[in-house]
Amino acid sequence: MNEVVFPAPVAASVSAETDRRVPPPPIGLLAELTHRCPLRCTYCSNPLELDARSLELDTETWKRVFTEAAELGVIHIHLSGGEPTARKDIVELTRHAAEVGLYTNLITSGIGVSPDKLDALHAAGLDHIQLSLQGADAAITEAVGGYKGGFERKEAFAKEVVARGFPLTLNAVIHRTNIHQVPDMIDKAVAFGAKRLEIAHTQYYGWALKNRAQLMPARQDVDRTILEVEEARARLKGLLVIDAVFPDYYARYPKTCNGGWGQRTLSVTPAGLALPCHAAQTIAHLDFWSVRDHSIADIWASSPAFEAYRGTDWMPEPCRSCERKAVDFGGCRCQALALTGKAENTDPACIKSPLHLTLGEIAAREASAEVVPGAAVYRAFSFGA
Ligand code: SF4
Ligand code: FES
Repeated sequence: MNEVVFPAPVAASVSAETDRRVPPPPIGLLAELTHRCPLRCTYCSNPLELDARSLELDTETWKRVFTEAAELGVIHIHLSGGEPTARKDIVELTRHAAEVGLYTNLITSGIGVSPDKLDALHAAGLDHIQLSLQGADAAITEAVGGYKGGFERKEAFAKEVVARGFPLTLNAVIHRTNIHQVPDMIDKAVAFGAKRLEIAHTQYYGWALKNRAQLMPARQDVDRTILEVEEARARLKGLLVIDAVFPDYYARYPKTCNGGWGQRTLSVTPAGLALPCHAAQTIAHLDFWSVRDHSIADIWASSPAFEAYRGTDWMPEPCRSCERKAVDFGGCRCQALALTGKAENTDPACIKSPLHLTLGEIAAREASAEVVPGAAVYRAFSFGA
């Protein structure tokens, strides 16, 4: 799955005093229509246990979910996966989302999306396309995505997208294998006719966490990309907007993950579980409601999984008494679980976490180890499975 960069929370939407109050409606819904995908990216943040095709929600259920989301006040729907166009009903789902008033964003690998399918999506009212970029040339793209000919197909797809007048965003997930190509990827974004580029350093969930030792970039390379992005932003002002997400492992404070747990967004898995974030299923003790049994409004207001870490009331120290607690909500719960064993702990990306130094040590150790050819595990799921 590609990264979705959600906007930061509105500071006044939830104060430290409001704690578990149900926030305003979510602005975004990430609809993971399928886990099937032609690519097998080593950085994929999909779960290790992927949903089989037989478990996927049917067309009518997804349409009901979209209607309920729009009625609740959701503005953006991100049609994602896996590769969302692997769904035979992608045009019908897009049309329905547009008809109920949602701004529709297709997050795609661009592989296997024919010009005819693009025409149909255009006619159905698709608003925006976000295309993943694994590298700036064929060799790196194939090494990362495990798909021969991927780069050429993406290039051709981007041309078709722009020719139809869709706004195009490129999403480049950065790691040790492609970090030297950041300037080239910026050039490619301009050449492809993209209006926006997301330089998103890998977030270590799912397959990416499994492959972390092979993906972790060196600190000096990350610092160099910061300068490269700053220079390009100034040079390309008015031509290309560049968003950047830098690695948690080298940060001083954590990211406000998904705009805060249960504050701004929700995700729905191919099989229908409603999650506060795409990696939430790793927190095994949470009770996730299914859209098969509950409406989106009920889930947003009352699902135990959304309630678990909503607001600030649940926080232990040092977050509880921290002045930033209603800004970053203690960082990422999934990362806290993965790195400390407890989801309620302070995200170790924070300098106030007792494990913050350990995080830096892990990053330095993994970044300085040799890349072992073939050691990174490709995401396992074949297109059409
Ligand atoms: Fe954020 Fe908690 Fe760190 Fe404060 S202590 S900055 S609330 S993660
Ligand atoms: Fe789950 Fe950050 S990915 S809270």
